[in-house]
Amino acid sequence: MDDELESYRSKIIGHDDVYVAGHVLVYPSYNGFFEKPGLFLDQMFVRKCYRGMKFGKLLFSTVAMQAEKMGMGMVDWLVADWNEETINFYEKMGAHYIPEYRLCKLYGDQLQAFGKKSDYEPRIYQK
Ligand SMILES: CC(C)(COP(=O)(O)OP(=O)(O)OC[C@H]1O[C@@H](n2cnc3c(N)ncnc32)[C@H](O)[C@@H]1OP(=O)(O)O)[C@@H](O)C(=O)NCCC(=O)NCCS
Repeated sequence: MDDELESYRSKIIGHDDVYVAGHVLVYPSYNGFFEKPGLFLDQMFVRKCYRGMKFGKLLFSTVAMQAEKMGMGMVDWLVADWNEETINFYEKMGAHYIPEYRLCKLYGDQLQAFGKKSDYEPRIYQK
């Protein structure tokens, strides 16, 4: 049950029957170790009332698939060390967590696997 449904209604003309369940930002970056451009992931968040409904996986997979399509070597992002639940989620998605740097990285086979998946194409969900 979304008690704040109206606050999260889309302002995009022609899409006002769409509601925001979560968000993620990405920025282009460059990884010196792999000597390849990458994506930096930021502000990954699914609103509480939508958790456990695969929206997190959808957001994460969309970023990873896009990185793969663009030939990026890595997706990386920061996560607070107290945020164990979220770290567990990222590890389940195939990420490597490096506690010293509070950094998560998705690369290699784990990143490439997202390029092969077809069940998480970006789409607009309607409530
Ligand atoms: C982490 C988060 C994105 C997960 O989103 P979600 O929509 O609830 O997750 P999904 O429903 O897509 O779950 C996908 C898979 O991950 C698993 N999963 C979800 N949360 C998990 C957790 N805390 N620990 C382990 N696995 C988890 C699910 O069981 C599911 O597994 P399956 O595909 O085998 O069924 C969400 O809980 C969230 O936004 N948390 C706050 C994030 C935050 O603190 N952001 C700050 C920036 S780092």
